[in-house]
Amino acid sequence: MTALSAFSPTALAGRVALVTGGGTGMGAAIAAGYAALGADVAVLSRNVEHLRAVADPIVAAGGRALAVQADVRDPDAVAAAVAATVAEFGRIDVLVNSAAGNFRCAAADLSPNAWRTVVDIDLNGTFFCSQAAAAAMRGGGAILNVTGDFVDTHGDRMAHAAAAKAGIANLTRTLAKEWGPAGIRVNALAPGPFETDGGTQALGRREAFAEIGAALPLGRVGRMDEIVAAAVFLVSDAATFVTGATLTVDGGHSWSGYHLP
Ligand code: HXC
Repeated sequence: MTALSAFSPTALAGRVALVTGGGTGMGAAIAAGYAALGADVAVLSRNVEHLRAVADPIVAAGGRALAVQADVRDPDAVAAAVAATVAEFGRIDVLVNSAAGNFRCAAADLSPNAWRTVVDIDLNGTFFCSQAAAAAMRGGGAILNVTGDFVDTHGDRMAHAAAAKAGIANLTRTLAKEWGPAGIRVNALAPGPFETDGGTQALGRREAFAEIGAALPLGRVGRMDEIVAAAVFLVSDAATFVTGATLTVDGGHSWSGYHLP
């Protein structure tokens, strides 16, 4: 029994979704979850091997998936990825901005290029993808930005990622205002501790998740199906009056004493 079983297996049937950062971690799980609920999914990543590992099982299970190699920092590549999605599936209804870069580093030690790289992937990439996808959405759509449960507090040795994600939180509301009249909803998902490879890389060791989990009100870190279910809800017909909102899915991490080991 997973959180996804709360949805009808056709909850996203007829939708076309483009998921950035879809080759790994949360993006990959969201892409697979959307496909399992009937969506056609374009998966975007820089890494072709990662793409195949996500797209091939979707196709093998009878779904439709397109692997799109692109770097979200490159507006031309992003525009081409959106065009490829529309060419393959005829439309685009949903964009999930899940591509992110992060590593722990004291602010004083961040090189200019290290700062720029993370802000470029997270904040600029989210903007480029949103602008290109919104221009291709016909009759409305839904954009979901993945931020983090630290956007309202601080990023512990993650000044770059925290500032970029806080920028995305604000962008979420501004775009929701500008694009609401076109029927495009823009929301954010703020995950707390989930055991992903990217998170493990950022924290330096996998055991850190057990330590964080033990201190949470729910006594554990999140399961991937729990973040996917929230990502389904926000782009589905269950959330047609929800826009400019942030859904925090963190087991109470953000309000119970934000702490990373
Ligand atoms: C200090 C670092 C560094 C580190 C890289 N840099 N890692 N500085 N500490 N650990 C510096 C490099 O030295 C370089 O600066 C600059 O950052 C760019 O590095 P590149 O490797 O050239 O960049 P690139 O190949 O574009 O890779 C981007 C990346 C990489 C962010 C550095 O890690 C990546 O692609 N990550 C994608 C996956 C990922 O990070 N996912 C995390 C998502 S999880 P100089 O000055 O030397 O040129 C998440 C939630 C985490 O966001 C929650 C934590 C609790």
